[in-house]
Amino acid sequence: MTLPSMESGLRSNLTSYGDPEFALFLRKAFIKGAGYSDDALDRPVIGIVDTESGFNPCHGNVPQLIEAIERGVMLSGGLPISFPTISVHESFAYPTSMFLRNLMAMDTEEMLRALPLDAVVLIGGCDKTVPAQLMGAASAGKPVIQLVTGSMLTGSHRGRTVGACTDCRAFWGKFRADEIDADEIAEVNGRLVGSVGTCSVAGTASTMAAVSEALGIALPGSATPPAVTADRMRVAEATGKRAVGIAAENLTIDKILTPAAFTNAFRILLAMGGSTNALVHLAAIAGRFGFPLDLDAFDAMGLDTPVLVDLKPSGEHYMEDLHRAGGVQRLMLELRDQLDPTPLTVTGRTLGEELDDAPEPFPQDVIRPRDNPIHSGGSIAVLHGNLAPAGAIIKQSAATPALLEHRGRAVVFEDAADMAERIDRDDLDVEASDVLVLRNIGPVGFPGMPEAGYIPIPRKLARAGVKDIVRISDGRMSGTAAGTIVLHASPEAAVGGPLALARTGDMITLSVSARSLTLEVDDDELERRAADVAPRPRPERGYARLYVDEVTQAEEGCDFRFLQAVDTSVSVPLRAER
Ligand code: FES
Repeated sequence: MTLPSMESGLRSNLTSYGDPEFALFLRKAFIKGAGYSDDALDRPVIGIVDTESGFNPCHGNVPQLIEAIERGVMLSGGLPISFPTISVHESFAYPTSMFLRNLMAMDTEEMLRALPLDAVVLIGGCDKTVPAQLMGAASAGKPVIQLVTGSMLTGSHRGRTVGACTDCRAFWGKFRADEIDADEIAEVNGRLVGSVGTCSVAGTASTMAAVSEALGIALPGSATPPAVTADRMRVAEATGKRAVGIAAENLTIDKILTPAAFTNAFRILLAMGGSTNALVHLAAIAGRFGFPLDLDAFDAMGLDTPVLVDLKPSGEHYMEDLHRAGGVQRLMLELRDQLDPTPLTVTGRTLGEELDDAPEPFPQDVIRPRDNPIHSGGSIAVLHGNLAPAGAIIKQSAATPALLEHRGRAVVFEDAADMAERIDRDDLDVEASDVLVLRNIGPVGFPGMPEAGYIPIPRKLARAGVKDIVRISDGRMSGTAAGTIVLHASPEAAVGGPLALARTGDMITLSVSARSLTLEVDDDELERRAADVAPRPRPERGYARLYVDEVTQAEEGCDFRFLQAVDTSVSVPLRAER
């Protein structure tokens, strides 16, 4: 048996026995035990990352997707072989799915490095899975193509369309305020999720799906077909077909995810009123290439990027509506002069070439024209000040306009447990004009930086009809949530950030127009308080210990330091003047 000179297909990444020919002989012997022929084993090997899990209903269609991908791969002459990695669902991950994102990224990266793969189809969907896959794939450096599972169908409750998870939160808020009773909240629980698939609003999953298409790492038109539709299966087949092409062309991920491609992706994130989490994930993916996030450039980009997609939570529609309206391609056509047409996409053509061939626009009411936006600009604003020297963000498109300029008394919760214990007590000293502060829910303080930044309205205020209140934390919130909520305050309290120094009764000023967040306490007093802050306990062992020792802050993507590439001189998004 002679080895070909090019290491590809089954001949690549041979196990190290010290004898490559024997390694190939042994590998073939084992896989032939599964019934493969030499003809099949001589084809380009297209890996399919199988993220099905009984605990991940957002990936409930993965078996059907794999079948369709395999069909596409074989139609193009490749050999599809699927393999599993970790799969993470938002509601089935303690303490939070974000804690496991980096582990999934490491799993993905190492499997891509270890296996004999000429190209890989990544099947992701639920919030953290697409970021994890792109982070891992970025470091592994192979030709990859992203396929998302697609959004779930909406449901109907008493004549009204409902969908996860903006409506989950809205109905729960009504229940807490005694506006609906236990019978109705139980009834709506069975209506919110109409099928398998990802959340049906502009949450993190939908945002990352759109961002993947804008990055050019997923096929044009692939972000929005719902999970259980024929369109989704055809996209899967086309993805499998194209995977054979990227293998032949050695179209590695670094040729697609360039600074210009990231810049386009940030624009789409802003224009769809997407999840604040996507900012963290994009920072993490870009960080794998050594492109640090430029928060101020992102904020500046927001000022001339209107929110055009009328999707909950910033608007009214659902993902299935966005698909019917033309999807992300239609959105990109609306923004065409603000997008860089030059980045290469996974099709082998540039974004501009793909948009030239995009379907003709037609009348619809989900993707607005630039002169009639949902929000005029800056859906996510970046704040600075003595409470967040390295920055904080607010999704102003989903906030109460009257609260965007606000001065109020701080009501401070030490951590998530303290908040849970006191938030609903009748004796909690809180008024609607106060500013709720929750600390120690950052990447280190509560490993994984849970989505607890969506602090509930204290029950006594909710019952009095209060719908929103200014909230500040070093944590995250779901992209499906709405409210006047400042997130990602950095550095976080647990690593010495000034959020640790706020006390109940201090005055805080939020000015989104001035992009400022100010604790009205002088520096000398803050220095005195800093001496009193006790260190938080660290996990003793295992992944949790690795996590707190290595995780970076939100603006750095919450990736592990040892996984990031060394910074280059190019930050993202690119500034307009460059
Ligand atoms: Fe999976 Fe929302 S819970 S996308």
